[in-house]
Amino acid sequence: MDNSIIHGFSKYNKEERIDSLIKKYGFDADLEQVLSSFEANDKSIQKIIDELSENPISTFPFPFSVTPNFVVNGKNLFFPLVSEESSVVAALANAAGFWAKRGGFHAEVLGTEKKGQVHFCWNGNPEYLQSLFPEIRLKLMADCAFLTTKMEERGGGITGIELKLLPHILPNYYQLDTGFETCDAMGANFINSCLEQFGKSLQEYFLTSEKVSTSQRECEIIMAILSNYTPESRVHVWVECLVADLLDGKSEDECIQFARKFEQAIRISKVDVSRAVTHNKGIFNGIDALAVATGNDFRAIEACGHAFAARNGHYSGLTDVQIQDGIFRFSIELALAVGVVGGVTAIHPLAKLAMKILDNPSASELMIYLVVAGLASNFGAVKALVSVGIQQGHMKMHLSNILNQLNIPEERRAEIQIYIQDKTVSFSAVEEYWKSLG
Ligand code: MEV
Repeated sequence: MDNSIIHGFSKYNKEERIDSLIKKYGFDADLEQVLSSFEANDKSIQKIIDELSENPISTFPFPFSVTPNFVVNGKNLFFPLVSEESSVVAALANAAGFWAKRGGFHAEVLGTEKKGQVHFCWNGNPEYLQSLFPEIRLKLMADCAFLTTKMEERGGGITGIELKLLPHILPNYYQLDTGFETCDAMGANFINSCLEQFGKSLQEYFLTSEKVSTSQRECEIIMAILSNYTPESRVHVWVECLVADLLDGKSEDECIQFARKFEQAIRISKVDVSRAVTHNKGIFNGIDALAVATGNDFRAIEACGHAFAARNGHYSGLTDVQIQDGIFRFSIELALAVGVVGGVTAIHPLAKLAMKILDNPSASELMIYLVVAGLASNFGAVKALVSVGIQQGHMKMHLSNILNQLNIPEERRAEIQIYIQDKTVSFSAVEEYWKSLG
C-alpha cells in the first residue's frame, strides 16, 4: 500500500478523490460508477448535498422512514425518521399507535434560553472587577448592538450576562456566562459572533479605561464559544392511562404486573450507571432519528441530554414513571436546543420535506416532537424488555438484514422464516440452513 502523504486533497475533484482511493487500495476501476449510483439523479440536488461537507465521494444513504399516529397535544402527525438501526422505527410506530388510543402525548416547553461563554484571564483584583462589571456590561451590550438589533426585532437577543470568578480552575480565570434567546434559529453563528465581540470589547475596556491601572491592562481571551449544555432550554413530555389499560387484550392482573416491572426498570435506570446509559441510548434512538431527518445537530442534542442526565451529580435514566390511584404516568424532562430556520434544515431537500411532514413546526414545537420521539422510543424499549424481551422484535429485523446479506431470493425467504421462528437467529444458523437447502 502506498503510504505517502497526500497534499491539497480538499482541492481534488470527485474523480480525483476516487482515483486516489483506487490507487491506494487497489479497488476495482468501476468504483466511480458504484459510488455515483448512490447519488441523486438531479445534479442540482447532488450539488447541495456535496456542499454540506468536504471531500465527498458520494452520498451515504440511510432509510428515510415515516411513522403515523403521533398525537401530540391533540395534533396528529407523521414523524419523519432517519435511522440505520432496524428496530428503532418499528418501536416508535408501536408506541405512537399505542398512545394515540390513550390520549396521545402531552407536552410543554419549560424554557428556550441558550448559553455561551467568554473564557478569559485578567490579573487584577476580582472584587474590583466585580465592581466595574455594571459599566463593562453596558459597553458589551452597546458594542454588540449591530449584531443583536435584528434578533431583538424578532423577540430574541441577549437575556443576561454574568461575570463568574473561577480562580479554582485557573489563576486569574473568569467567565462571561451569557444567556441568549434565538427564537426559531439554532443561533450558533449569532451567539458565537456576539461572544467574540464581547471578547474584543472586554480587551478594549481594559486597554482604554482610566479605571484600570497600567499594570492590569492585559486581558487574555482564552476562547469565546456557545455552550451545548442548555439546562434552561427544556421540554416536559408525558403520557398517561389506566394501569388496567396498559396491555391490549390482557387481564388487569397482567397489566398490574407489567406496570410494576416497568417501574422497577425505571428505578434501576435511576441509580445504576450501566443500565442508565443503555436506557438513555434507547431514548436517543428516537430523538436522533427525528433530529437527523430534520437536519438538526444530533451530537449537540445528545451531549446536552447526557449532561442533563447527570445534573444531580450522578448519571441517571432520563425518564420517570408514577403509578398512583390506578393511573400509570410516564414522563421525561429533557434539555435540548434546536433550530428550524437556517442550517441544514433550510438547505437539505429531504430535511425540508421532513419539516413539512411535521407541519413546519416552530423551534419550540420541534423541541417537543424530539422529546416525544425520545419518550416513545424508551416506552417501546422498556415495554419489550420487561415483557417479551428485546430479541423478539430485534431478531425479526436482524433476520431480514441477514437474508439481505446472504442475497436470499424473495421467493425463498418464507421457508427460512418458518424454520427459524422457534430458534435463535444468527448469521451462521441462517447460512447453514440455507446451504442445507442446496
Ligand atoms: C437498542 O438500540 C436500545 C435498547 O437497548 C434500549 C434499552 O435497553 O432500553 C433496547
